[in-house]
Amino acid sequence: MDHTLRVYESILELLPSEENPTPLVRLQKTVPEQFRVYAKLEWYNPFGAVKDRIAANMLRDAERRGLTPLKRLIEPTSGNTGIGLAMMANARGFALRTPVSQAIPQEKKTTLRFLGSDVVEIPDSLCPDPSSPDGAIATAKGIARSNPDQWHMLNQYENDANIEAHYRTTGPEIWRQTAGRVTHFIAALGTCGTITGTGRFLKERNPDVKVIGVHPQEGHEIPGVRSIKQLQVTKLFHPEEYDALVEVSNDEAYDLCLRLNREESVIAGPSSGLALAGALKALGTERDALAVVIFPDNIFKYASFLEKHFPQFAGAAQHAPVPAGQDPLLAAMLQAARNPHTTLEAEEALPLVTQQAAALVDVRPAQQYLQGHLPGAVNIPLLELSSRAARLPRERPVITVCNRGNASISGMLLLRAMGFQEVRSLNGGTIGWREKGYPLER
Ligand SMILES: Cc1ncc(COP(=O)(O)O)c(C=O)c1O
Repeated sequence: MDHTLRVYESILELLPSEENPTPLVRLQKTVPEQFRVYAKLEWYNPFGAVKDRIAANMLRDAERRGLTPLKRLIEPTSGNTGIGLAMMANARGFALRTPVSQAIPQEKKTTLRFLGSDVVEIPDSLCPDPSSPDGAIATAKGIARSNPDQWHMLNQYENDANIEAHYRTTGPEIWRQTAGRVTHFIAALGTCGTITGTGRFLKERNPDVKVIGVHPQEGHEIPGVRSIKQLQVTKLFHPEEYDALVEVSNDEAYDLCLRLNREESVIAGPSSGLALAGALKALGTERDALAVVIFPDNIFKYASFLEKHFPQFAGAAQHAPVPAGQDPLLAAMLQAARNPHTTLEAEEALPLVTQQAAALVDVRPAQQYLQGHLPGAVNIPLLELSSRAARLPRERPVITVCNRGNASISGMLLLRAMGFQEVRSLNGGTIGWREKGYPLER
């Protein structure tokens, strides 16, 4: 096959291999200048994600063992394996049912149905929980077990053909693309097929290659990856073969995802942000590294999750109603400035207030401040803020407060413009705080 011309008789010829690798692209702006960090862009797979590799290999392996389309496939998925498998199933004549968690992005559910899969939505964690007795994995296992003549479950979570896909393709591609100079390999952890298969191959070639796994915090909102608690019960998770495990928060992952798209013009999805954030933590001050980070898929399947995480991108229809008497343009501006990085809820603020871990700046007129304010708040009315802010401490985060959480947004924006890094505005203001039963002082 001549991959230079890129003319193919079948879409399946596009599946990646050493001769037809997914691209490695050096990151320029989101990593320190002296670092050589390359992103492996897995959305260049024919069905859009790293999981195409395992869908193809697991099906190939099962067919080799005698599986035919007389049986239907059933596979639990957080979306990408299902999408890759739906396309492979169509190409090979199999019917497919995909039990998924209700919590996965709507985009993935609709796409799966569009591709011909029978999608069954089940209450489960974002990435199907292996220990849930009635989650997507248990459901698929139950159906496959109760009627083995009709159903076949490839089971990406336990199938060695998942690891083997990466051992046979991802690893050799990276080795060849870096001329054997790769020093660090970094992957986000879901089934752990990527890290285990690629890591094994690279370490066989050079035992000094560092293999680093990145996972989200418990309760995260990053599709496709598992928290450390779930990883403990993940069959293909082999921590003894990795050099480090790194935890990354939701905000770190989404912030870097946004920067990758805006600053690098790389259309990376949330788990790419997670993997890169982990890579940067693991590399520390390392100077001579040549790191390869897997970027599992692109941003386009995640609009609904982006809206949740960055409400300012949701568009006008999602905005809160304009308060009576407020200029609609001003209301829209304030709303646009409101997101989880610039505002916080009373519940989040409470421990910071009680532990005096943040400087509280009440931007209301003095009269209102004197009638009741958050414990420890200093009063700097909005109009005086620019002249008096210099005296505020820079080592603690700042929370701006007003009556209802509107004027305090202006205060937050002003302080940020003056160079204060960690400033957030209290949603709901002093009134919302009091309504929650939290203490005020006079
Ligand atoms: C978007 C995304 N990122 C990361 C991963 C993790 O890859 P692996 O399952 O090989 O650990 C997945 C797996 O489903 C995924 O869909």
